[in-house]
Amino acid sequence: MSEWKLDSHTIMYGVFGDPVRHSKSPIMLNRAFREAGLNAAYAAFHILPGTLKDAVSGIRALGFRGVNVTIPHKVELMSYLDEIDEGAREIGAVNTVVNDGGRLIGYNTDGIGYVRSLKEETGIDLRGKRVLMLGAGGAARGVGYALAKDGAARIWIANRTREKAVELADYLARHTEARGIGMDEVAGIVGEVDLIVNNTSVGMHPNVNEVPMDTSLLGERHVVSDLVYNPLITKFLNDAKARGAVIHGGLGMFIYQGAYAFEYWTGLPAPIAAMRDVVEQSFKE
Ligand code: ATR
Repeated sequence: MSEWKLDSHTIMYGVFGDPVRHSKSPIMLNRAFREAGLNAAYAAFHILPGTLKDAVSGIRALGFRGVNVTIPHKVELMSYLDEIDEGAREIGAVNTVVNDGGRLIGYNTDGIGYVRSLKEETGIDLRGKRVLMLGAGGAARGVGYALAKDGAARIWIANRTREKAVELADYLARHTEARGIGMDEVAGIVGEVDLIVNNTSVGMHPNVNEVPMDTSLLGERHVVSDLVYNPLITKFLNDAKARGAVIHGGLGMFIYQGAYAFEYWTGLPAPIAAMRDVVEQSFKE
């Protein structure tokens, strides 16, 4: 790893969010820049509601090469950009901005980051697979879109509020076969699916003993994936593993959404192992 220095040539990056002080993106991306030997730096910016437009002007004015954008700005941001990538337009949210000589281009790397992590960590080939997604919020929309684009043959979406599942299924139906169901219908279809993805916040710290569905329905035929990464292995995944399923934790999605951002900004392959290492270390501290 090269020596780290900041000087008048340093290329600037950051993350815009509210709240943002808990973000692991700065340690992950700064480690990636060092690993790649780039003179670049990444910081967290607490952007309050009502100030996002000025902050985006700041990207241009200050010549930042790129930013990530997180809650609650991912949708509003879209109105201040010059161009929006097709995937981000489909999902209706942007989490990564590339500044191409003053022209700001928006991408969404959450869904594709999720799928890349799922495939690399479990070896699953999504073509022809049947998927059950739990939850129908913003995260589910990005994940569902990416799964459909990667060849999932059929997606059921189960949600506490059934109407939202039906709404998301109507949208996904443009890309694959999709159906919205209530949580009470999960037991009837779980025997037919290959992959189950928790897109809800159920099981997240501090509610670590909660699970998003009846885990006695899980078995060896399933790959079970959880977007929650605090804790790194949720009770849902622990139960699934005990029943013989292959499991996939949520940290990979975070790492790979950052890896895609790094690749869009620099044109270089992301140093995934170093990025994962520094984030895992930070969880132990
Ligand atoms: P995100 O952007 O993280 O997806 P969101 O858009 O607020 O967040 O979506 C949260 C998802 O988790 C929703 O599907 C929500 O279900 P509802 O649509 O019924 O609200 C689900 N969710 C959150 N808490 C839940 C709980 N305790 N039990 C079941 N589902 C829950």
